[in-house]
Amino acid sequence: MKAFFLNFITTYLSIMVGLSLSKLAKPTVPSIAHYFGTKGRYEEVNPHLLDDVLFVNKSQVAPPSLDCRAIHMVSVIRHGTRYPTTKNVRKIAQLFDLVKSDSLRLASSWLNDLKTWKMWYTEDMDGRLVEKGRDDHRHLAMRLAKSFPTLITADHLRANRIEFMTSSKHRCVDSVKAFQEGLHRLWDVQDMDYQHYVDDSLMRFFDHCEKFVEGVENNKTALKEVQRFKSSSEMDSVRRKISSRLQIPYDRITADMAEAAFFLCSYEFAIKSEYSPWCELLDESDAQVLEYKNDLKQYWKRGYGHDINRKSSCPLFHDIFSRLDNAAKDHRFGEVKKTATIQVGHGETLLPLLSLMGFFKDEKPLTSENFALQRKRVFRSSKILPYAANVVLVLYECSDGLRVQLFLNEKPMIFPSMNHAAPLYERVRKHYSKLLHGCDFNKECDLPQLNLRNTEL
Ligand SMILES: *[C@@H]1O[C@H](CO)[C@@H](O)[C@H](O)[C@H]1NC(C)=O
Ligand SMILES: *[C@@H]1O[C@H](CO)[C@@H](O)[C@H](O)[C@H]1NC(C)=O
Repeated sequence: MKAFFLNFITTYLSIMVGLSLSKLAKPTVPSIAHYFGTKGRYEEVNPHLLDDVLFVNKSQVAPPSLDCRAIHMVSVIRHGTRYPTTKNVRKIAQLFDLVKSDSLRLASSWLNDLKTWKMWYTEDMDGRLVEKGRDDHRHLAMRLAKSFPTLITADHLRANRIEFMTSSKHRCVDSVKAFQEGLHRLWDVQDMDYQHYVDDSLMRFFDHCEKFVEGVENNKTALKEVQRFKSSSEMDSVRRKISSRLQIPYDRITADMAEAAFFLCSYEFAIKSEYSPWCELLDESDAQVLEYKNDLKQYWKRGYGHDINRKSSCPLFHDIFSRLDNAAKDHRFGEVKKTATIQVGHGETLLPLLSLMGFFKDEKPLTSENFALQRKRVFRSSKILPYAANVVLVLYECSDGLRVQLFLNEKPMIFPSMNHAAPLYERVRKHYSKLLHGCDFNKECDLPQLNLRNTEL
């Protein structure tokens, strides 16, 4: 009896220890989740939302001082969490096929988990918004209403003083609808006919800027730093580690496959909140290398790398300031007609705009050779551009004049080279005066008209 009891206790204890060990071994958040870049969850930049998804830190979104009152807001918001694009579904399938067929030698339970993993991504998912992505926008809407309680209200909504605009892409249209659903949940406004309009010249300006399309998007040499980094010693070492973990020859693990594993971990986590066995293919230093590879791409394709990347966002820049100007004018002569604009677009919409306005500019460019030097860079898409990333500009009337504040992901930012979180609007206009009086889309984006007939002569 005693022996049985002891036996029972030890079995019980080992089960409990085993359970807590497996809990330790399988954290719910992958250690590499902070490096997912544009495939990261919004919660990674605002971790308090994990406890309460509607929590608003009032001290962060309060007016700059007690004598200030918000009169207008413009927000540019990235779509929410989405499925992989067709291109990435193919890369994931390639990686999975390789692991299934080639990684036979080592029979660990982890490898078995990889092999029995079920490929559920299909090409027709094509970057569509997922349910979590709808939630991203529903909840963001509710928080923004709470953050700016005089601008986003049921009355303003009913009176059409809030304008909704989106890119034509399905994930953006679905995001703006989810945003409206969030407001509807708050107020249940009856007989409300929710409207939005599509404007790609503002939300997908990059497609319409010829000089960008030709000079960067369709130009392989424009992204040569990204290509070079793929064959860097840093990337080699990531591939070597993956090769040894999988017991698959190094030459079969390409940089694209390493990236596919990274994406797979990020998608499983962002879409399903699952800690996937694929995450264990990479350690933290591998993730830093892959994060840098993505940042290099963003830098050269959407950021400071080429001047035209930033300049292509001129139409959106002008649109935002004309909305602020109109609100300022309305305010001077009476009632502000519009209180808020919600503009839904892409990471590719936000990053050129932030770059045009001078945010997140490092002293030295990001190149294939300075990974170590750029360890502390400010241009880090994991921090700037998770799903549902948002830039919000708020205009305030204060006793000493109009002031403006810019929030990124619901946190106030200091305007670059103004050293102030809520400068006078006049000062902001002066600071950007070159852009406000120039930054002409046609002038920046039109290619010189080559007269082919003449060159033939
Ligand atoms: C709210 O923001 C302030 C900084 O403005 C910070 O000190 C504080 O910890 C934040 N509170 C929470 C609960 O996140
Ligand atoms: C392609 O990019 C390279 C490097 O930025 C540049 O020198 C070249 O002029 C570009 N080509 C075109 C057709 O714009």
